[in-house]
Amino acid sequence: MSDNLSTPNQLNIPKHIAIVMDGNGRWAVQRNKPRALGHKAGVDALRKTIEACVRLRVDALTVFAFSSENWLRPAKEVDLLMRLFLATLKRQAASLQKNNIRLKVIGDCSRFSSALQKSIQTVEALTAGSDGLTLIIAANYGGQWDIEQAAIRLSEHIKSLAGQSDGMQLKDFLSTAEVVDPDLFIRTGGEQRISNFLLMQLAYSELYFTDTLWPDFNEQCLLDAINDFSSRQRRFGQTGEQINQQE
Ligand code: IPE
Ligand code: IPE
Ligand code: MG
Repeated sequence: MSDNLSTPNQLNIPKHIAIVMDGNGRWAVQRNKPRALGHKAGVDALRKTIEACVRLRVDALTVFAFSSENWLRPAKEVDLLMRLFLATLKRQAASLQKNNIRLKVIGDCSRFSSALQKSIQTVEALTAGSDGLTLIIAANYGGQWDIEQAAIRLSEHIKSLAGQSDGMQLKDFLSTAEVVDPDLFIRTGGEQRISNFLLMQLAYSELYFTDTLWPDFNEQCLLDAINDFSSRQRRFGQTGEQINQQE
């Protein structure tokens, strides 16, 4: 397995990887440390994963940073996560731009502080011209919310066409409409659930679950997931024989 690092060319690199970065709290608790330390270590794991995706020429990486349900956590932890998000954005803005990464935040940002909303807009604008990796951070995001907002916008669009149809569909209004649906979904931390992440977009993603806690995730873990992905036959409803004939 470890020779993966030297042979990424043989791998089938997914165009879009989506990750539920789970396990920060448990990582800290295992070390008798406050959960905050796990979240801070999680930021480092994210930075390494982004670097690996750039090296592997992945087109898009979508990461679940804060779910619409995570507001239910103790206020102190929510506050820490918000401050960490803001500080990380400010600290990494220049590096994102330098590495030709385009940042986009998806989710209902209206509940964030004005400082955080402003910082998101600033970094999105700063990196809008990048054509390398598209990094999508899902924050105050829920897959159900995404479908609801897409339905509202689609109905407004149809109304504006005064009865005509231009073929636009619900998927064209999802918050990830500008990138292809994820080829590979990774969840760290051992749970095998979606937790209201990209519900529509994951329809045909290959699912990969690992017990590794997010702060321990590194390039080798990513390559292991991609290696597993490379061994799958994606059939999209067709038979295996049909797919073999097309190859
Ligand atoms: C994921 O790690 C990060 C967020 C949800 C913000 P957790 O904080 O959920 O870690 P565990 O699941 O408690 O270990
Ligand atoms: C999912 O993790 C959300 C993020 C990683 C941001 P959770 O830890 O919140 O998921 P559940 O509550 O265990 O399903
Ligand atoms: Mg969790």
